[in-house]
Amino acid sequence: METINIIDAGKHVDEEVVIGAWLTNKRSSGKIAFLQLRDGTAYFQGVVVKAKVGDEIFELAKELKQESSIKITGTIHEDARSHFGYEIEVSAIELIGDSDEYPITPKEHGTEFLMDNRHLYLRHQKPFAIMKIRNEIIRATYEFFNQEGFTKLDAPILTGSAPEGTTELFETDYFGQPAFLSQTGQLYAEAGAMAYGKVFTFGPTFRAEKSKTRRHLTEFWMIEPEMAWTTQEESLEVQERYIAFLVQNVIDHNAYELKLLDRDIETLRKYTQLPFPRVSYDDAVKLLQENDFDIEWGVDFGSPEETFLANHFDKPVFILNYPKAIKAFYMKRHPLRDDVVISADLLAPEGYGEIIGGSERDTDYDYLKARIEEQGLSLDEYEWYLDLRKYGSVPHSGFGLGLERAVTWITGIEHIREAIPFPRTINRLRP
Ligand code: 4AD
Ligand code: MG
Repeated sequence: METINIIDAGKHVDEEVVIGAWLTNKRSSGKIAFLQLRDGTAYFQGVVVKAKVGDEIFELAKELKQESSIKITGTIHEDARSHFGYEIEVSAIELIGDSDEYPITPKEHGTEFLMDNRHLYLRHQKPFAIMKIRNEIIRATYEFFNQEGFTKLDAPILTGSAPEGTTELFETDYFGQPAFLSQTGQLYAEAGAMAYGKVFTFGPTFRAEKSKTRRHLTEFWMIEPEMAWTTQEESLEVQERYIAFLVQNVIDHNAYELKLLDRDIETLRKYTQLPFPRVSYDDAVKLLQENDFDIEWGVDFGSPEETFLANHFDKPVFILNYPKAIKAFYMKRHPLRDDVVISADLLAPEGYGEIIGGSERDTDYDYLKARIEEQGLSLDEYEWYLDLRKYGSVPHSGFGLGLERAVTWITGIEHIREAIPFPRTINRLRP
């Protein structure tokens, strides 16, 4: 008899199979028991009929505790009433690992409780669906950048620099000298682009964000492509193609998970239609002012502003050329204006805010050196970075996609802490 995964049940209709599973819930009467089963690939129901399995197996089924692990033998049938579409009619059960009183019961629990029990909560349907979609976004990311000719370049986690500003650094002791957990792989990606043309980094990044919002983690994963001989306009085209590719792959490969999350596929489909609108920061400020936002030119957008702008366009929207004063030192100067840089943030619809930040990079040694000093950063730490402008500097552009921001938006969930297996936030370091 073949051992299968639940996800493959459809290929085994009317066959007798074995499945290694955990019990998530159960219901029984004197004659029939319904076992809710999961095996990490999907969730479905096992039906145990006393008259068919006999007293011993039926009693075992009735006494099984939540999250005990079992080997189930049975026959697959179609079940049009479930999300999944199939069930198993059980003929035998073998108890493999008994379970203690499991803390997460089928009743409602508060978020803090679920996050305290994250190591167990990951087993449940909502985190399951989110993690499978996260995995698909990661898989599709590699596929996209491989097919576009990028080389994956791994950036270090322990660094001496603070490219995105000094206020959000995690400092640690590195054999007597201070080191910082990386805020971004970008500077290393730029070195990579000068070596291999088109590269992307993908790794954990850290920001000691004091902000307690539903969009901020202190540890998050970032995908940072960097492209030599590439203008910002060309980079924007890569960005929108990449986002549309991610959304399309989730639609194609995660229908079951999207259903578990109640995420509307037609809404997602809109986000595969290119191009995405582009609006200058200047015009965005005007638009906000015309709509009664109390905002002045020069300040960064907060979440209400970002939400308004993205909703206004009903699609992800690029906001172009932010004020120089609120952006990182490496962004390219505007050729005609002194007050803005050649940059873009991509804002996601439905209130999810910024998912990508990117820019063209300035290529001039003296300008960058002055900017680094102006921002109070240590020149010693950036000497190697400035070398990139000394030996064959070329126009280049890049961007960073926050993985968890993208997962939160595509899955349509409320809070970014659900988009990563073990979230780190200002007040959570465990589990
Ligand atoms: O806009 P940011 O700060 O840009 C950079 O770090 C650049 N070095 C990227 C580049 O050009 N290579 O961050 C990029 C993205 C944001 O758009 C957001 O999606 C995500 O990273 N992000 C966060 N995600 C979760 N929690 C946080 N605290 C985040 N901060 C930024
Ligand atoms: Mg940003």
